[in-house]
Amino acid sequence: MAEVIIVADKAAAGALVAEEIARLVRTTPDVVLGLATGSTPLPVYEALPALLDGVDVSRVRGFALDEYVGITPGHPESYREVIRREVIEPLGLDPARIRVPDGSLDGIEHAGEDYERAITAAGGVDLQILGIGTDGHIGFNEPGSSFGSLTRVKTLTEQTREDNARFFDSVDDVPRHCITQGLGTILRAKHLVLLAFGAGKARAVAAAVEGAVTASVPGSAIQLHPHVTVVADEAAAAELANADYYRYTFANKPAWQGI
Ligand code: F6R
Repeated sequence: MAEVIIVADKAAAGALVAEEIARLVRTTPDVVLGLATGSTPLPVYEALPALLDGVDVSRVRGFALDEYVGITPGHPESYREVIRREVIEPLGLDPARIRVPDGSLDGIEHAGEDYERAITAAGGVDLQILGIGTDGHIGFNEPGSSFGSLTRVKTLTEQTREDNARFFDSVDDVPRHCITQGLGTILRAKHLVLLAFGAGKARAVAAAVEGAVTASVPGSAIQLHPHVTVVADEAAAAELANADYYRYTFANKPAWQGI
């Protein structure tokens, strides 16, 4: 099962996950990171520069989870731009080593396959950061997505478009389509780290961690993976039936065991 770590706040979550990423970069300079966008991973990205100060990051590689299809190149909310602004620049990574799925309409038919090939050629993702949507999506794999799915174009639910409208002038500006790593792609990463903050995520977190494994809750795919860490604040953990056990487990975690 997933290890569930319940933390006091986003900053504690960010520090915990950033520490593990910094450890990986120090031990494996050409580590392959799986990068999420949205609000959830920000505390991790904000904690990283201080931990990587003086560490050689020139060989770090990365793959973003998803991108909007047909969004104007250079649009500040395109995930290519978000990754440049929030990850590549603050961490001083080599932009040529960090990929985002290509959401431009020209070539969209083969963009998914191209991305899969690139991930495979890189030897796979070592640590995949994940957020979760209020409807249970991970990446942009909306409810009903196949557990075997690979990078491909998907249609966003109206719920997801409304959730993401805060990044745009209005919900009408949120693209309807995206290109996203599939659940099958995500499950091939060596370590999944799913973060969740706030009461709005509580139902999705409980369903993903403790509910039935079902395509109706794409996040429940994490139950099929051998190495998963879920880091949630109290509000996002509020509907977990086994929260006391997770707290007990973490409090008694052997010192030799990382996350
Ligand atoms: C983003 C992504 C999505 C988000 C999810 C939660 O790359 O893949 O699954 O993680 O929509 O979004 P936030 O973090 O903005 O609540």
